[in-house]
Amino acid sequence: MAGPPVALPPVLLVVVVVVVLVSGVEALSNGLALTPPMGWLHWERFLCHTDCGDEPLACVSEQLFMQMADIMASEGWKDAGYQYICIDDCWMAPTRDEDGRLRADPVRFPSGIRRLANYVHSKGLKLGIYEDVGNHTCAGYPGSFGAYELDAQTFADWGVDLLKFDGCYCDSLEHLAEGYRNMSLALNGTGRSIVYSCEWPLYLRPFQQPNYTEIRQYCNHWRNFGDIFDSWDSIKSILDWTASNQDSLVSAAGPGGWNDPDMLVIGNFGLSWDQQVTQMALWAIMAAPLFMSNDLRQISPQAKALLQNREVIAINQDPLGKQGYRLSKEDNFDLWERPLSNLTWAVAMVNRQEIGGPQRYSLPLSVLGNGLACDPACLITRLLPTRAELGLFSWVDILSQRVNPTGTVLLRLEAPAQSRRALSGGRLPRPIL
Ligand SMILES: *[C@@H]1O[C@H](CO)[C@@H](O)[C@H](O)[C@H]1NC(C)=O
Ligand SMILES: *[C@@H]1O[C@H](CO)[C@@H](O)[C@H](O)[C@H]1NC(C)=O
Ligand SMILES: *[C@@H]1O[C@H](CO)[C@@H](O)[C@H](O)[C@H]1NC(C)=O
Ligand SMILES: *[C@@H]1O[C@H](CO)[C@@H](O)[C@H](O)[C@H]1NC(C)=O
Repeated sequence: MAGPPVALPPVLLVVVVVVVLVSGVEALSNGLALTPPMGWLHWERFLCHTDCGDEPLACVSEQLFMQMADIMASEGWKDAGYQYICIDDCWMAPTRDEDGRLRADPVRFPSGIRRLANYVHSKGLKLGIYEDVGNHTCAGYPGSFGAYELDAQTFADWGVDLLKFDGCYCDSLEHLAEGYRNMSLALNGTGRSIVYSCEWPLYLRPFQQPNYTEIRQYCNHWRNFGDIFDSWDSIKSILDWTASNQDSLVSAAGPGGWNDPDMLVIGNFGLSWDQQVTQMALWAIMAAPLFMSNDLRQISPQAKALLQNREVIAINQDPLGKQGYRLSKEDNFDLWERPLSNLTWAVAMVNRQEIGGPQRYSLPLSVLGNGLACDPACLITRLLPTRAELGLFSWVDILSQRVNPTGTVLLRLEAPAQSRRALSGGRLPRPIL
């Protein structure tokens, strides 16, 4: 029941060529982030709250990170893969110490970052911290300009495992590029394994096209687009921006270096259930770093189950490391796909209509994966919004699903067992382009 030979539309051919080129692009050689890093980052939920008298549970303090670490370790987050507890802006004292070293705010971090790192490590987790390539951080704390090596060494001495390096208060593109490169080299020079999270392309884009070949050589992941907000408008704008720039973004991603569409805001206030499903599904399709920004002390069981969904996380963490892309946009539906290892594909149907009830989407399976995703047959499992084994389909079939407004149906298409055996024996059932 093999289908007829497939004539590839030119657009799809381009995607295939781009994907093949990825493997040639060298990643930062620190051996880290071979799959997208996962963890928790304080920014979107806790911002720059520094008044612990007024907001003891929501201020940026060592207590906040210790409580999140406790919960990450005890409530299944670590086991699901979330590993990095990350501090964002506003952790510092307003000035450096007499030796020029950074120091944490003494009131909010009385034990210091080294002790906090020890605590986080004792839970089997890793600690991330934040600095800036320019003269000040975005919130006005001391920046790293002129002190990259000293700051990298300070972070290494403290036992930090990830650095998010922002790009505020930087006066020239030369300083921006040199600063991101120099900090990468400085981190390497410490000898400690530290994931390097950059915002280089985000700050460069208003002036010139980023050179992703170069960015990938220096950074483990990089922000391209502005900060996420706790809203559907924000999720939509990130998805649309990513899709409209996918020709340059998709080929830049791969083991060791990833496009970062910013934090998961699932479990907060601004997204409906269907919109939370959409964020989780599409962040998996985009091979995005998964950094939650929410309050793990107070999160609904439903949001927790979504964030800890092992099968969706497995798509995000697929070892092949190819980022997915939008395949089509029509009649209020966006269709995305992502090639995975073992002849498997992930497919997302997003209903963009913001009026009415669930809409039916009929998908001819022959359009997926250049016609190869379900050729000659495939087993389809729906992972979101609810799990269901949909069964065995053939290349000529049309799969029909109902999708809620602003929601997503996430599918996994696997080759039947027979084809997988052929793959493991080195023989493919049909030639893969
Ligand atoms: C530093 O870079 C070298 C080569 O570029 C690499 O072999 C080494 O593992 C890196 N070390 C760290 C700590 O990242
Ligand atoms: C930092 O400030 C100094 C002094 O004003 C200036 O010379 C330098 O270019 C600034 N660096 C950045 C990255 O903006
Ligand atoms: C980066 O490092 C080079 C070589 O050490 C140095 O000449 C340059 O000034 C540094 N750039 C910045 C922005 O620190
Ligand atoms: C991009 O960066 C790479 C690696 O640094 C370099 O070889 C290449 O020439 C750059 N491309 C452009 C268009 O500048």
